Amino acid sequence: MKHPGYPPEFWDSIERVEETRDKRLKEKFPKMSVTEREDIVRKYHPDYKEGTKRPVRVGAYKGQLAPHEVADLLEAHALINPDDVDLSNVDYDTDVLVIGGGGAGASAALWANISGVPADQILIVTKLRFGDSNTKGAQGGIQAADREYDSPIYHFLDVLYGGHFTNDPELVKILVTEAPLIIKFLEDLGVMFDKESNGVMIEVSGGGCSRDRMHSCGDYTGLEIMRVLMDEVLNRGIPVLEFSPAVELITDDRGQVAGAVVMNLETGRYHVVRAKATIIATGGFGRLHIQGFQTSNHYGATMDGVVLAYRVGAQLRDMDAVQYHPTGAAWPPQLAGQLVTEKVRSLGAQLVNVNGEQFVYELEPRDTVSAAIIRECEERKRGIKTIVGWGVWLDSPMIEIIHGEGTIEKFLPAMFRQFRRYGIDIRKEPILTYPTLHYQNGGILINQYTQVLDAERKPIPNLFAAGECTGGVHGKNRLMGNSLLEITVFGRRAGNFAAKHVKNVSLGKLTLDHVTKWENMLKEAKIRSSKKAPIILPDYRGDMIFR
Ligand code: FUM
Repeated sequence: MKHPGYPPEFWDSIERVEETRDKRLKEKFPKMSVTEREDIVRKYHPDYKEGTKRPVRVGAYKGQLAPHEVADLLEAHALINPDDVDLSNVDYDTDVLVIGGGGAGASAALWANISGVPADQILIVTKLRFGDSNTKGAQGGIQAADREYDSPIYHFLDVLYGGHFTNDPELVKILVTEAPLIIKFLEDLGVMFDKESNGVMIEVSGGGCSRDRMHSCGDYTGLEIMRVLMDEVLNRGIPVLEFSPAVELITDDRGQVAGAVVMNLETGRYHVVRAKATIIATGGFGRLHIQGFQTSNHYGATMDGVVLAYRVGAQLRDMDAVQYHPTGAAWPPQLAGQLVTEKVRSLGAQLVNVNGEQFVYELEPRDTVSAAIIRECEERKRGIKTIVGWGVWLDSPMIEIIHGEGTIEKFLPAMFRQFRRYGIDIRKEPILTYPTLHYQNGGILINQYTQVLDAERKPIPNLFAAGECTGGVHGKNRLMGNSLLEITVFGRRAGNFAAKHVKNVSLGKLTLDHVTKWENMLKEAKIRSSKKAPIILPDYRGDMIFR
């Protein structure tokens, strides 16, 4: 059998991909102009598809657009009934509560400790196991302008261009200027970045980047960073409460945030955590499967932190901007939606249609590449039709042609193994891909100290947020490698500022009055939803239809 991992009806197309390789190696496909980019995104990116969003009807984001799936959760009832929670019985009393056990949460807890909060006065609560997060799934790399040919200024401009200039420039400035320090910190902590034999870090490019500044650990970058962060948190003795999602924030009678109610997933019992500072680091919303898209996200990515912050008055931004990673796996069906790292393209693989023709420069920003793939399939009908949808070829064998044999096994070991299990050898055969829901571009509004802001841009007392659950850093579209950077840069900031902040905090009587107020607001707005949030885990028992 020629291509045992692919059905015979794909084989002719694979041959055409092979036949066009020499020509494609010689000819460079042109990059789009700014106007062409704006145009293709507006016409074909799912964010602009009619009928997929609506204005939110209640809360600080009222009147602004969000995908239906997101708006439904923002307008949902609280999961808990305040009468069922005994706030006089405090189960955990701590200075800094971190909600979320991914990269942002681990960084925040770690830096709170480095900044002077004793380990036993920090508590991480996480709904699954410590480390279960999109951080672990992040493959390609982490950006930092730390070479003489580069500068944080170029990095800054790339981030803004990627985000269509909708980003918060103050936050972007922090992201790019603190990036080199973070790489050094992570390396000192033990992250094993890819290096040349002379010890110099290998840095490649990513979509929308003007310089090679992607630092990686094979295609396990997030897993490696998470491994080291987790080790450090545990070595320092910072307590972690697993399988304990936060289901509601707690406020006090002075209008401050004062911790959270967490639920023991095993027993269903609520526990009260009182805290002087609460840091939300719960990640994104991939598991909402917006518009029926498959996702690259882990099971816990259900937007819980945004929901919790929203109920205490947090403003949000860019909730209408969803990132569809251009290359989710489209074959075999068992892998549908799984990430095929952008690094495959960084190393030279091109995107080609059913005839083996290139139709987009592969390292345009992500929204642009995704829009081009969708146009190629849905409008031009030049994709490969499968039993589960469409796909285009990512011509991975080009990597070995360009860089030599062994490159894929060395630099893309996860990809190599993932497809080999299904009889596909990506050194010799292209990978079938289609955009997959990958990232929440927007989120909770924060300032440079990671304080959560309300509708008037005033800090909500004692509440901080960091990572994917926040908005502003990436504007309407994130570039590759800036999420691992964001969680480590802003996780650090959240830990540092929370550590300073708790020195001057005293808490009043604990309440859940904001929940009662919220329910009244829903009534006044005549919202007749039966939905409750946070949803904690996705529900696959219904009639969800994937694209
Ligand atoms: O393609 C990737 O490896 C994903 C990286 C990212 O989202 O930053």
